[in-house]
Amino acid sequence: MMKQKIEQLAVQLEASLAAVENKEQLAAFWQEFLGKKVHYSLLMTELRNVPAEERPQAGKIINEAKKWAEAQYQAKSEQIAQIELAAQNAREAVDITMPATRRPAGSLHPITIVKDQMVDVFAGMGFEIYEGPEIEDDYHNFTALNVPKNHPARDMQDTFYVAEDIILRTHTSPGQVRVMENQQPPIKVLVPGRVFRSDSDATHSPMFHQMEGLVVDKGITLCDLQGMLDKFVQTIFSTDVKTRLRPSYFPFTEPSVEVDVSCFECGGKGCSLCKGTGWIEVLGAGMVHRKVLENGGIDPDVYSGFAFGIGVERITMLKYGINNMGYLFENDVRFLKQFKD
Ligand code: DAH
Repeated sequence: MMKQKIEQLAVQLEASLAAVENKEQLAAFWQEFLGKKVHYSLLMTELRNVPAEERPQAGKIINEAKKWAEAQYQAKSEQIAQIELAAQNAREAVDITMPATRRPAGSLHPITIVKDQMVDVFAGMGFEIYEGPEIEDDYHNFTALNVPKNHPARDMQDTFYVAEDIILRTHTSPGQVRVMENQQPPIKVLVPGRVFRSDSDATHSPMFHQMEGLVVDKGITLCDLQGMLDKFVQTIFSTDVKTRLRPSYFPFTEPSVEVDVSCFECGGKGCSLCKGTGWIEVLGAGMVHRKVLENGGIDPDVYSGFAFGIGVERITMLKYGINNMGYLFENDVRFLKQFKD
């Protein structure tokens, strides 16, 4: 009787198990056959109805049947785990022979490229780098540079005022004074940085970059300045260019000069870049005014020096033939990506 029942149950179990295809169905199968108070557990309770002398034998058979059922379950469970793992592997498979998506490398901004080149040239000549504050006081930006209050030269620069005597520096020249206040000659510094003027058109931007140079020592002359600038323009533009100094005026230098470079486009014959003159203006410079040396705590009867101020945007535009400063600040990637160093 019991044996028959067990055999029937085994047939039923095999049929059910054959239909099991996933974990959920497997769990349901367990509930149906091996859970509490269902098939195999019930068999045990039915032992009560078996005559006492047959009971040990029947108990043994039931136990074996239950073990068999559990083994069936176990085997199926392993099979399903393997099937599911294989399915997961298939889903996550990566074709390692497929070409990778390349991330394009960025490039430096043209101003950064030129600024770095300029710093390199001067660092190679032994200049130290000093960076002064962008928010500057009136004294360092103007007064100490021999531009007293109400001096007409202040009109040359449209200043952004932060407070009455606090401004956004209009040039990097205050860096000269700050260096001299802290250091005695020999001085050889380069002051790169951002400057600000209320000005905006094709060749002006309210924020732009300058690079100030200052050399102070015994016996420094304009010839030293020109020799050094020759080296500078030859590195930045072309090895066969030369410089020309034209008299000019800046309150902080005496004499003051405007520095031209021979046209690297036409070699000096005259073209649209140099407007037919063969020369291109690149920077302002001069011998440091004795009052400025004094304001910096340096004795002008013992020492002399030269200074120069270079517009980084101007050099960048000349070097790359850019005719509108706006391009340098719009950050249009189509423009910027042309400047791979
Ligand atoms: N600071 C001047 C400007 O912003 C540029 C300049 C001219 C700097 C002559 C100098 C210099 O050091 O000697 O226009």
